[in-house]
Parts: sequence; structure tokens; C-alpha cells
Amino acid sequence: MKNTNIQKRTERTQWFNEARFGMFIHWGLYAIPARGEWVRSVERMSHEDYLTYFREFKAEAYDPREWARLAKRAGMKYAVLTAKHHDGFCLWDTALTDFKATNTPAGRDLVREYLEAFRAEGIKVGLYFSIIDWRHPDFPHYGDRQHPLRDDPQAGNEGRDFNRYLDFMHGQIRELLTNYGKLDIMWFDFSYGDMAGEKWRAQALMDMVRSLQGHLIVDNRLEGSGEHSGTILTANPSDYAGDFACPEQMIPPRGIRNELGDFVPWEACITLNDHWGYCAEDHRWKSAQMVIRMLVECVSKNGNLLLNVGPDAAGRIPPSSVEILEQVGRWMADNGESIYHCGYADLEKPEWGRYTRDLRDSRTLYAHVLESQVGAVCLPGLAGKVEKLRLLRDGSEIRPSRYWNLTEYPEHAFFFLNSRSNSSHPLPDPVDTVVAITLKE
Ligand code: GLC
Repeated sequence: MKNTNIQKRTERTQWFNEARFGMFIHWGLYAIPARGEWVRSVERMSHEDYLTYFREFKAEAYDPREWARLAKRAGMKYAVLTAKHHDGFCLWDTALTDFKATNTPAGRDLVREYLEAFRAEGIKVGLYFSIIDWRHPDFPHYGDRQHPLRDDPQAGNEGRDFNRYLDFMHGQIRELLTNYGKLDIMWFDFSYGDMAGEKWRAQALMDMVRSLQGHLIVDNRLEGSGEHSGTILTANPSDYAGDFACPEQMIPPRGIRNELGDFVPWEACITLNDHWGYCAEDHRWKSAQMVIRMLVECVSKNGNLLLNVGPDAAGRIPPSSVEILEQVGRWMADNGESIYHCGYADLEKPEWGRYTRDLRDSRTLYAHVLESQVGAVCLPGLAGKVEKLRLLRDGSEIRPSRYWNLTEYPEHAFFFLNSRSNSSHPLPDPVDTVVAITLKE
């Protein structure tokens, strides 16, 4: 008898497993120092020094409709915005602290505008919520693993009431689940050491989440982090194990399965450069080709890609990020059918690239040819099983081949991408040439 949590998460994540591609957005006060979202911790910055940015934050160029239109053009089907990161700065008009965007010169409820803009584009909406809060006086300071004042004996923890902090944290989550309409994802971040599970009152928290928005899907970081996944990988996941795992800055070698061998819903969260939050000096941008191939790899392993943008202090997504996402979107416009509602093909990975399979129709496979082939493209073990082949982007016919130099390999199916030259070089699309394969009944 499967654990009911597994059955429920399978039902809740169906849309997620079909969406496959989302936008992560890390934005907040840290965009002003522009040295990444951990700047307060890394530089052991005092509360007072960090307030400088609070007093300066204007978000003068913030237009989430532009963000939403870019996400749509890129082919992204959901988005996750940092409502509050570890620094404790709240992008929504919370009643539980003054450390919020509506009290800065920006004077706006940035979360509400984001939700309205992305919903208007038909994009599902998620919020990232840091369960760590370096601003809150009842959160552990001195001796914590990463608090900005962790080395300051003056920041001792006498008088800090962690239960009072949890009341605050749960209260903020209740606000977001009550006052902002239907949310699709809550992305909690992150547990560490003994700060995990019931330390956060996770059972009560998830009971509240499920009672307020039962359809909502939640990541696994009430128990885990990017380092370990928690009980979501077991046959009996806890009530707060989450609905999906979220490996970070990497793609799991074989996707993610639980101890029963069944796939667990998962998304790799990955940055476009090397930083989540805006970092002015970081120009190490991944190419559109790399992004497309990361996405294909995730889907081929039954997972999603949550690709991050880090807007600058004014609210502009960096032009380099925009250009990459526009290029990705052009490829997705031609080939998105091989990504959305697709997943693991249950075939040996071919030498020339990867397969994805339509989750709704097992007869439909997609060959993602990433490397030119000197001769024919080989479909190992598929001899006699292929009904038809089409170049996905234009629907043009590709004929299976038994060319003279292939006759000694009867167990495989083959096709040429350049039939006139009986070769498969150069590739029609050097980034990823997608061939739709219809298998025989
Ligand atoms: C890590 C980082 C955090 C980032 C998150 C995204 O937890 O500490 O800054 O928001 O990864 O997955």
C-alpha cells in the first residue's frame, strides 16, 4: 500500500511534471550591494549597515509585466519569486514586521504586483520563503552556522525566544497563503544541522498550508536542502517531506528516485551566471545552448529546470539574461513539444544526445541530436519499431534508412539528417536537432 503522501504528491504535481520549465527570481535589498544574496552573511554586515540599502531601495524600474512577458517568450510555465530571502526583507506588505518593501522608498507591494502580472500571462505562480531570517531578533545569531553576527559574542542568544520566531514565521506564511489568492508553489529554503523538520514546527506548518491551499506544491527543504533531500526519497515520506526535490546548481546523474525505485518529482534550480541575487561583476553567463541542453537533460531524467534571473536594484533583469532567454524561447517555440508533458524515455542514453518521451503517449519519442554524426543517426534496438520520423521544427519527413553501410546492424534503426549526402553533418540545428519518432503500435 503506497504511502498516501506519495499518492497525494503525485496528484498535486501532475501540472508541475508537465510544465518542466520555470523562472526563479531572486530580488531584494542585496541587489544594491550587487555582490549576491548572501552578502550580509559573507561580509558579516551589521543590521544597521544593511539598513542603508533599505533606505535606498526604490525599485524604480520594477515592471513585473515585462518579467512575465519575458518568461512567457522563453517558454517558461511557472515562476518563483523570493518573497523573503535569508536577510529577512519582505517584498510583500506584511503586518508582522516593518522590514518590508512598502516601508522603503519603493513603497509598493512587490509580491502582489508580481502575482498579478504572471497570472495575467497564464504562468503559474510560486513564492520562495526563507525559513531562515537574519533580521528577526529571536532567530539564533551568535554561533549559528551562517548568521551575519555568528562570530560576535555581543550577539549572544540570551533572551531570544525561538518559539516567538516560529509564531512570526508561520504567521507570515499564513499571510501569503491567505491574502494573495491562489498560489501554485511555496518554495521554502532551507534546513541545516538540527534546524530541520519539527524544529520549524513543520507538521503544524504543513497542516496549515494544506488547509489553506490544498493544491499547493511545496519543495522538500523543511527537511532538506541542496545537500540532502530528506524523507521524500523514502517509501514513507513525512507530511512535510515536500512534493518535489530541488537539487541545486547540478543535474542529478540519473534523475531522482525514491527507495522504491519510483521517480520523485524534482527540479534542478540553476543560475544563469554564478549568482542567485544580482552580482554586477559576474558576467559568466551560460549560453542559450547550454540552457537548452540543461533543460533537455532534466526532462530526459524526468525532472524540471528552474532557471534563475537576478534583477538589479531598480528591478531590471540584466540584458544578458534577457538575450539568453529570448534565444531559448526561439528554440522552445519550435521544439517545446519535446519538453512539455515529456519525461524519461526508459531507453539507454544514445551516444548522439538524449531521448524524451511524451508522458501522455508512449508511442511518441523525441530524439535530441546534440552531436553531428559522420553517417546515419542510430536508434539502438529500435529496428522494425519506427512508424515514422519527422524533423520536429518543420514537420518535414525523415526516412528511416537501410543504407548499404548499415546492413550489418539489423537490430538498430537508422536515419540520415542529410539524405542527399547520406550523412548527419552539419546538424540542421546545431544546438539540438529534435526528431519526433512515432513508434509502431
Ligand atoms: C541556496 C542559497 C540561497 C538560494 C537557494 C536557491 O539555499 O543559500 O541563497 O536562494 O540556494 O536554491
